Amino acid sequence: MRFRRDQVSERPAWLPWSLRAIVLRDPARVMVGYANFHGPPGVNDLGRPDAAEAGYTVFEPYRSRGFATETAQAMMDWAAREHGVRHFISGVAPNNAPSLRVNDKLSFARTGDVVDGEIIFELRR
Ligand SMILES: CC(C)(COP(=O)(O)OP(=O)(O)OC[C@H]1O[C@@H](n2cnc3c(N)ncnc32)[C@H](O)[C@@H]1OP(=O)(O)O)[C@@H](O)C(=O)NCCC(=O)NCCS
Repeated sequence: MRFRRDQVSERPAWLPWSLRAIVLRDPARVMVGYANFHGPPGVNDLGRPDAAEAGYTVFEPYRSRGFATETAQAMMDWAAREHGVRHFISGVAPNNAPSLRVNDKLSFARTGDVVDGEIIFELRR
């Protein structure tokens, strides 16, 4: 949170892409995780100028209920609707089975790239 706070204080235009709480609809206002884009389009593991990259964490007691998948989908819908973004990048550590599964459910495809030990995926809408 400090990292993201400092980032938006240096670059206020990044705010819409920065940290958000993931909250339940019912019961309302229960925070189950957080999510952000790495930054506006262009800030992603491959430096693709048109692409955005999301990151998310769901707190342990709330995992495997589809919240990360729903969150990532909602973030991509928002980026497409509000900013016309159609290209998404995702980097996942090879041993992060739940995150690999989320990418699979969202229909991300491997690019063949590995950056800082992470497998790189992309999705075009
Ligand atoms: C990755 C993470 C965000 C997933 O959150 P989540 O809300 O549990 O994700 P979802 O419920 O949408 O999907 C998880 C899927 O992985 C599956 N899964 C969970 N543990 C698994 C395992 N050990 N092996 C294989 N699949 C597993 C779940 O069953 C589910 O698939 P299903 O819907 O087909 O049953 C969560 O584990 C997390 O916060 N991890 C720590 C932070 C992190 O790694 N963030 C991503 C960085 S790229």
